[in-house]
Amino acid sequence: MKLNSKLIHGGVDGDKTTGSVNVPVYLTSTYKQPRFGENLGYEYSRTGNPTREAVEKLIADLEKGIRGFAFASGMAAITAVLNLFKSGDKILINDNLYGGTFRVIDKIFSNFNLTYEIVEDFNNYNFDNVDESVKAVIIETPTNPLLTITDLEKVSEKAKKAGLLTIVDNTFMTPYLQNPLDFGVDIVVHSATKYLGGHSDTVAGLVVVNSEELGKRLHFIQNSTGGVLPPFDSYLLIRGIKTLSVRLDRHLENARAIVEFLQEQDAIEKIYYPGIKEHPGYEINKKQARGAGAVISFALKENYDFKKFIDSLELITFGESLGGVESLLCHPATMTHAALPEEAREALGINDRLLRLSVGIEDKNDLIDELSRALKNSKN
Ligand SMILES: Cc1ncc(COP(=O)(O)O)c(C=O)c1O
Repeated sequence: MKLNSKLIHGGVDGDKTTGSVNVPVYLTSTYKQPRFGENLGYEYSRTGNPTREAVEKLIADLEKGIRGFAFASGMAAITAVLNLFKSGDKILINDNLYGGTFRVIDKIFSNFNLTYEIVEDFNNYNFDNVDESVKAVIIETPTNPLLTITDLEKVSEKAKKAGLLTIVDNTFMTPYLQNPLDFGVDIVVHSATKYLGGHSDTVAGLVVVNSEELGKRLHFIQNSTGGVLPPFDSYLLIRGIKTLSVRLDRHLENARAIVEFLQEQDAIEKIYYPGIKEHPGYEINKKQARGAGAVISFALKENYDFKKFIDSLELITFGESLGGVESLLCHPATMTHAALPEEAREALGINDRLLRLSVGIEDKNDLIDELSRALKNSKN
């Protein structure tokens, strides 16, 4: 089955018992056991629920993995993956990882002596000298919010040789645009709150692993720690995923039009988008992904006031998150990346004038008109 068909028929396709084209929402916490020592495949919904299982099978299919897991948020999914490690272990992480991922590593897991090293450029990182405590690499490509690109094949090959697991947050790309497991990556995580759900109506997280062994360990962690995705949210996610390809095609078309518009504007100091040739990751992204995504970050010039820009928005929603059908603009320095220490943020280029636009699927001309007006209003 091709990807566009898998989005609709992958995982569990409808309901065999009634013919319902949608997977039923099994709102149950427990299951009747017909007799002592017997059950019908389910005992308790933290351990397994048919609606959750349907979305877990679907994401495993889409990411071409062995087993999938659905969690109550992207952070719950990432937390479960971090639970694979133990005190004394160390992980290598991207330098502009999502702020919440950095926060859970820096402020929660550090209490359990799981340490980390920030890697500025994984593409040229020397894995030959990593010490024995290093167990994994955590990558976002593109990163959030600077859209830097990491070569998945090169890094996962080197990591594997050094005995490390490679974990990729594929939220920005989705399986429609990128399949990290194809490049030797071991674990994929998603904030399904974003493009997979697609309608800004549910918070969810997914994990896909490439081996039975990791599958068993992750299921043990999921059941033990309990941050599972509820049945109704599992259903919403399945529903969202059905339209992923049509939504993303429009997201990409709009993003291209907006980048072209921004490139012509005198008000813009810098555009961060892996779909333009000037972007340092352009070639690598082209090799490993089927598009550059629909998140664009851009920095206003010094003589433009970012607050006036934000306050001029009417059609574009000012708020956290991304990947919904509506365009969303966020101010990373005070929102998504507020958890990063100020010096680290400034050094990376996440300053006050940096804005991140998640391009929605509205009419692209309306979006361009809105940006044009906001730029005019924000000139000092
Ligand atoms: C790349 C990335 N990973 C993980 C997360 C966390 O996901 P959630 O908000 O669903 O917990 C986010 C949230 O913005 C994100 O952008």
